[in-house]
Amino acid sequence: MEISNHLMFAGMDAVELAKKYGTPLYVYDVNKIRENARSFIDAFQKWGVPFQVAYASKAFSSIAMLQVARQEGLSLDVVSEGELYTAMKADFPAERIHLHGNNKSYDELNMAFEYQIGCIVVDNFYEIDMISHLTRKHGQKVKVLLRITPGIEAHTHDYILTGQEDSKFGFDLLSGQAEQALRQLIDENDIDVIGVHSHIGSQIFETAGFVKAVQKIFEELEKWRDRYHFTASVVNLGGGFGIKYTEEDDPKPLDQYVGALVSEVKHQAGKRNLPLPEIWIEPGRSIVGDAAISLYTIGSTKNIPGLRKYVSVDGGMNDNLRPALYQAKYHAVVANRMNEPKTETVSIAGKCCESGDMLIWDLDVPTVQSGDILAVFSTGAYGYSMANHYNRFPKSAVVFIEDGKDHLVVQRETYKDLVKNDLPYQIPQTSCN
Ligand code: LLP
Repeated sequence: MEISNHLMFAGMDAVELAKKYGTPLYVYDVNKIRENARSFIDAFQKWGVPFQVAYASKAFSSIAMLQVARQEGLSLDVVSEGELYTAMKADFPAERIHLHGNNKSYDELNMAFEYQIGCIVVDNFYEIDMISHLTRKHGQKVKVLLRITPGIEAHTHDYILTGQEDSKFGFDLLSGQAEQALRQLIDENDIDVIGVHSHIGSQIFETAGFVKAVQKIFEELEKWRDRYHFTASVVNLGGGFGIKYTEEDDPKPLDQYVGALVSEVKHQAGKRNLPLPEIWIEPGRSIVGDAAISLYTIGSTKNIPGLRKYVSVDGGMNDNLRPALYQAKYHAVVANRMNEPKTETVSIAGKCCESGDMLIWDLDVPTVQSGDILAVFSTGAYGYSMANHYNRFPKSAVVFIEDGKDHLVVQRETYKDLVKNDLPYQIPQTSCN
């Protein structure tokens, strides 16, 4: 039997997919998304505690993705009107949607009231006033979580740290602002503070930071019970569970993160004689990150003898900004040369007019030719969702694979799409003409 020289992904030939849909292309393995979601849900169910797993849709939001999230029984974290709008278009149950954001606009909050979403995660004082006004305008009560920054420095890239005091997100504990916000919120008749929220950062491997955050939260909850008779029926511990991009990454199985959180919540609640709250989490990356690959076509190569060989692909920081923005590392293979020996070390360059547009430095590959297909692994989170129009490259298409069938779920943008909001300029007639 002939052994295929092609990469198989989710049971499909990646090279054929590239041919069928063109490149750059995002391809998701839907079974992997489901498997990741189920790992979280099963872990909570094993512990027998009340929970919600909210998919952080910023990692990858599209109607098809949210349909899958809905089907898997996930809740949803949205941070903008656009993400909320997408959720409504996907018929996502409003009561399972949570709205985030450090600068929610009046319109965004109003939309949350109109759709009657599950809860708003309150981030700052400015927002409290708007929410209060909206409860009166709509004659509606609203459930909120109070976002606190617990003062935890998790070990990750600075740009994706969020739990330290010096952060734009949430109310910090140290200066007493969180407590002040709580007082203000519980004085409002139509605002129901159902609990607290904390998110310490993203792409975190160790459980210690999460455990520390739980401790800090419960220290505070104990004080708040004693001072204000406040009880949190929900403690939302955010997302941030790391995934494997390259051999250097060593994440834990997803159920271990759940285990660490649940056991610490139980321990803290028991020790302080507080009722066990519902535990909510908001994973994004760990649900979709390792469920997708990006396919590119190799074009030009440039060999600088003794220095480096650049191999350029037909995408780059326009479809995956992470390497340029965070020096994020990825692994890739030449999808049409899977059985060929690796003969050279090359660096994969993007197509954007920017020296920093390098997707991978120093990748071992077989001898490549233009027209070959490069497959980059684990691009499912913050890839398509952070894609941009730099150099006016249209955004890629997205394909879902399930049970041996491919489904186009986001069409490739056209040049027409790129200019559809541009209007011609009526050049003013000056006295010189
Ligand atoms: N909850 C909150 C409040 C968040 O801010 C985030 C991510 C999440 C949940 C989901 O975190 P995850 O499980 O995906 O780590 N663009 C960056 C990541 C930014 C994360 C922003 N917040 C990247 O590409 O690495």
